[in-house]
Amino acid sequence: MPATSLAQPASQSFDVRPLQGLVGAEIVGLDLSQPLNDADFARVHRAHLDHHLVVFRDQHITPQQQIDFSRRFGVLQIHVLKQFLLAGHPEILIVSNIVENGQPVGLGDAGKYWHSDLSYKELPSLGSMLYAQELPSEGGDTLFADMHRAWDTLPAHLRAAVEGKQSVHSYTARYSDTQAAVNWRPNLTAEQLAQVVTVTHPVVRTHPENGRKALFVSEGFTTHIVGLPEDESRDLLAQIHAHSVLPENVHRHQWQAHDMVFWDNRSLIHLAAGCPDHLRRKLHRTTIQGDAPF
Ligand code: OGA
Ligand code: MN
Repeated sequence: MPATSLAQPASQSFDVRPLQGLVGAEIVGLDLSQPLNDADFARVHRAHLDHHLVVFRDQHITPQQQIDFSRRFGVLQIHVLKQFLLAGHPEILIVSNIVENGQPVGLGDAGKYWHSDLSYKELPSLGSMLYAQELPSEGGDTLFADMHRAWDTLPAHLRAAVEGKQSVHSYTARYSDTQAAVNWRPNLTAEQLAQVVTVTHPVVRTHPENGRKALFVSEGFTTHIVGLPEDESRDLLAQIHAHSVLPENVHRHQWQAHDMVFWDNRSLIHLAAGCPDHLRRKLHRTTIQGDAPF
């Protein structure tokens, strides 16, 4: 063998177990601290596309290993809120409700409204990996809604109303919550604001890898539908949203210690169900850049 041969890591023996319901599969027996060979990576990629969400159970990986694995899927995106990036690893956003010495250690209101990560960017996220660090003894679930199914089952009059339309997405759509006990999102600097100018995306997008259509609007970041009067747009978005999050479209992830969840932001929107304030919750997120929606 020439010294330059591309030696591959050995295959790992692991199972992909679809969860009950429409969305999600558990991946059991895979160790993400080891580099994956191409065949194992292809199985994981396939499972992610088929199930829109995969749960890697029982992972014991470093921030760098999470970053390295995430990078297999694409370029990583760095969140605009620099104060919540992991020291030395800006590719990791800390999602946490913990406040230490009056300082929030992470973004505490991530996922307070239904959303698709970074949909307010020209190139929204393909998928996000969220790795449990500390979990509350009660609550703290994450909900996911299947936007392919939401589109497929959308009543005809709503389909007709939005097909071919564009909508505006804005990072600051729900930015300031003056009622919140902790201000997780202090005023943005001019430099930060320049990173989050509003963008328009199709209301119905086609998934670039599975070819299926999906609704691509959310209560978190979509402000209005282009070309419609304000009240009509608001009403239409409200109806689409109510339909999208009907119980039959929604999957609830109940976190287990050492879970890493990898979801597809092109297929799903998600919501943090929340937990009592006094219980500590902390997770590490990496966010993979996707294509311009079409
Ligand atoms: C996120 C997010 C939800 C949660 O990290 O992108 O929306 O349950 N998190 O923490
Ligand atoms: Mn999110």
